[in-house]
Amino acid sequence: MAEPVVILTGAGVSAESGLGTFRDKGGIWARFDPARLATPEAFAADPAQVHTFYNLRRANCLDAAPNPAHHALARLGRDWPGEVVLITQNVDDLHERAGSTGVIHMHGRLARALCAACAHRWDAPREMRPTDRCPRCGETATRPDIVWFGEYPYHMDRIAAAVARAGLFAVIGSSGQVYPAAGLVGEARAAGARTVEINLEPSARADAFDDALYGPASETVPHWVAGLLDGG
Ligand code: OAD
Repeated sequence: MAEPVVILTGAGVSAESGLGTFRDKGGIWARFDPARLATPEAFAADPAQVHTFYNLRRANCLDAAPNPAHHALARLGRDWPGEVVLITQNVDDLHERAGSTGVIHMHGRLARALCAACAHRWDAPREMRPTDRCPRCGETATRPDIVWFGEYPYHMDRIAAAVARAGLFAVIGSSGQVYPAAGLVGEARAAGARTVEINLEPSARADAFDDALYGPASETVPHWVAGLLDGG
């Protein structure tokens, strides 16, 4: 049986689909202040403003299409003779639309709504509003199901278990600046995995990887996947 491959993707994998990254020049956090949009305190202070921001991002996501990097990762999931675990920090659904299954969304999903009062989750409408009521408890505490700054990422137990059994651990298109995601490469290495960074340029954690592949994800990822499937 082939070794388990565990992959963590970030905004860079969706960049060529037209969804902005966060920390690159002109990125989302250069144009919008995360303290006013991506914290529980910001939502409590001005839910309409936070909904407007995520409604725009949801619309961008619905208009976007998966690129060759997403398609190549879906192919790896189908054709690799061992386990493939795909973890993403992305809140878009481009991995799923390319055909990947069982994607672990550690920072939540634009496509889902969460009730801040009772923790019920359901499919988000295209446009969310502060007056939306939770279909279970009826409160008007409906928020995007996104992990904000100061909140703990989802599925960390499953992620830690997957990283611990990885034979190969790859991080694709992530700046390595947001923890705990950025720390997973250290855990993978400590557990004995070979590690590879795939990015446009060296990330903040570049020194933590055994191997690197630099260039646009739409080119590097299909090349990397083809090499793995060919036994290279
Ligand atoms: P960043 O915006 O911090 O980093 C994007 C990375 O993608 C950078 O290292 C770029 O070099 C790389 N990149 C850009 N274009 C690329 C391309 N075409 N091909 C390959 N790589 C490319 O995004 P993340 O690391 O994903 O959190 O950010 C982590 C988290 O910070 C996000 O999940 C988000 C944000 O706050 C939440 O929304 C909760």
